Amino acid sequence: MRHVIREAFGAGAPAHGDQVADLWADVRSGDHLLAELVAVVDGEVVGHVGISHCWVDARRELAPACMLSPLSTLPARQGRGIGSALLAAAIDAARGLDRPALFLEGSPVFYSQRGFERASTHGFEPPTRRVPDPAFQVVLLGEQPDWLTGRVIYPEVWWRHDSTGLRDPDLAAIEARFAAS
Ligand SMILES: CC(C)(COP(=O)(O)OP(=O)(O)OC[C@H]1O[C@@H](n2cnc3c(N)ncnc32)[C@H](O)[C@@H]1OP(=O)(O)O)[C@@H](O)C(=O)NCCC(=O)NCCS
Repeated sequence: MRHVIREAFGAGAPAHGDQVADLWADVRSGDHLLAELVAVVDGEVVGHVGISHCWVDARRELAPACMLSPLSTLPARQGRGIGSALLAAAIDAARGLDRPALFLEGSPVFYSQRGFERASTHGFEPPTRRVPDPAFQVVLLGEQPDWLTGRVIYPEVWWRHDSTGLRDPDLAAIEARFAAS
């Protein structure tokens, strides 16, 4: 799994693949792992997706929810439906977790075609303003109670790895792209 995550997220400088793989190793060894799935082709692990714990800081209570990250397909296997199949299976798995919502940060083009909606339309805010509004997305896993709105809170491990939202100059570039579209 580490190999798949590392390769998918790239080995540039700084080595983003290592950053994501290290983050996921720490999520797995902590208290916040909820599920992970792999795609196997001819006996080889070619894709991976992780689901872990987060909260919605609603006015009435701190409500447990879940988040999807990372999603990875080996570069040589991309574009053949593996990521989409992992996403569908992850949403199914999340429905079994007894949590109201599954959140993620990512491309609204890719994820909106695969069941996700803009989280702000359901009253949810991202954990940081460094997640552009269209990129913060949700699948509701059941009926949303009226009171269940508010900021989504990630566990400390995501902050320790500085792994939520984007930072400049990437953030400014994505914001400009969203503003133009
Ligand atoms: C995103 C990813 C998991 C998709 O896996 P995959 O096995 O290629 O997915 P599928 O074959 O089911 O779907 C391919 C589609 O994803 C699109 N896609 C891939 N990366 C994308 C991105 N960063 N932004 C938007 N769309 C993307 C492709 O254009 C293609 O679109 P199409 O179906 O309209 O032609 C894979 O590209 C990957 O591992 N990327 C690097 C890691 C990453 O960015 N993960 C997601 C972080 S939010």
